[in-house]
Amino acid sequence: MNISIFGAGYVGTTTAACFALKHQVTLIDIDPEKIKAIENRKPFFYEEGLDEIIQKVTANKSLRAIHIDSDVPASDLVFICVGTPSDSSGHIDLTQVRDVAKKLKQDLSKFARDGSILVMKSTVVPGTTRRYLNPIVQNKTKLGVAMNPEFLAQGSAVRDTLHPNRIVIGADKDWVFEKLKTFYWDFYAGQDIPILTMSLESTEFAKYASNALLATKISFANELANIVETVPNADIGEIMNVVGLDHRIMPKFLNAGIGFGGSCFPKDLKALIRFAEDNTGYSSPILQSVLNINKRRPLYLVKILREELGSLDDKKIAVLGLTFKPGTSDIREAPSLDIISALWRYGAEVYVHDPVLDQIDLRPFKRFDVKFCKDIYDCLDSAEACILVTEWAEYQKLDLSEMTSSMKKKLIIDGRRIFANKKMPSDVQYFTVGRRSKKT
Ligand code: UGA
Repeated sequence: MNISIFGAGYVGTTTAACFALKHQVTLIDIDPEKIKAIENRKPFFYEEGLDEIIQKVTANKSLRAIHIDSDVPASDLVFICVGTPSDSSGHIDLTQVRDVAKKLKQDLSKFARDGSILVMKSTVVPGTTRRYLNPIVQNKTKLGVAMNPEFLAQGSAVRDTLHPNRIVIGADKDWVFEKLKTFYWDFYAGQDIPILTMSLESTEFAKYASNALLATKISFANELANIVETVPNADIGEIMNVVGLDHRIMPKFLNAGIGFGGSCFPKDLKALIRFAEDNTGYSSPILQSVLNINKRRPLYLVKILREELGSLDDKKIAVLGLTFKPGTSDIREAPSLDIISALWRYGAEVYVHDPVLDQIDLRPFKRFDVKFCKDIYDCLDSAEACILVTEWAEYQKLDLSEMTSSMKKKLIIDGRRIFANKKMPSDVQYFTVGRRSKKT
């Protein structure tokens, strides 16, 4: 099949690379840098396992990236994977979706032919696919429109794309459902993946509902952590283990920590809140609380640090991890940004390490006069405290005596509980989230 994908961001690039394992894929973007990155066989971001696939599918020419104004072969499936960030009011910003829709309308015969389907994959508020894509195919009975949301998570994007746990297709026409179902049955041959079909609007809504519930689980665990942190001898990890073992609940996304970041949960919650307000006049207290709880969590680590060290003026603080989660180079809405800016405000000398430092866009950190360390031990050397922000596997393997050996003060503040169940050397002071920090 010929497939084209608009948007060479995290979702578009990963989807294009994976689909190119079986199909002929053209990735279309307006940014020459992103196109060049694919031509050079190296995506502009780090994502576990993606480089190898890109190398393979560009070498055998089943994936190519081109500028939006170049010649494109008309495709059977045209996926839209452009960004839908928040605008300054928290509403969804549909500029990129509108631009692609305009382009498709102008040059429809270039991108589509009889039997083609325009498929929205970007996360968009209910009604968007119908509003922007239906007018493009109006009166052309042999063209279709669908909504097919993406459920991949960064850090496991390749695995999630090659082995999704469900596929959701929204459309109005039977032949559109059939064609997309056949495409996915063939692509995932041998895997038993449920395919759910429904209206365009339910599909759009289901994506928000999924992200909103996952974010709610995290904020629920974090809200309980706020309370547990005042109770002597209680531990949020122990408590959520009990909760998660209930089959009706499941343990995933109940890990208390320093809150969720990334490009999805924060902006999707804001978009859903604004969408609800605009449609119903009703401001969702649950969704708003999920965001409010999340906002407070990163600074809890700085609070503990200040309680232990007093003034932070000119004190070297080592921060381990910048990305919003392991397995990605993405720092959008990462808790590290809030933590580092607070440390800087309190006068600390901030040294940071991240295993994928070379692939991170470090510009947002530079105004905090941060020292970037390629070597973790340079970061820790003479530090008065170490703050663990991202639970990279290589941090989880650290030997705690070795890790703290050159620190000026052996103080670890663990925002992800990765050392919570490890035996601490007697000379190390250890604090983590979801456990009372003051001595009992
Ligand atoms: C999320 C969803 O998990 C995907 O299903 C969805 O497709 C994607 O958004 C999207 O809308 O595109 P993502 O943001 O990439 O994926 O990563 P997650 O694994 O969901 O992590 C989000 C944040 O939650 C991270 O900062 C992570 O550290 C945090 N988190 C996760 C917790 O604090 N506690 C947990 O128990 C789990």
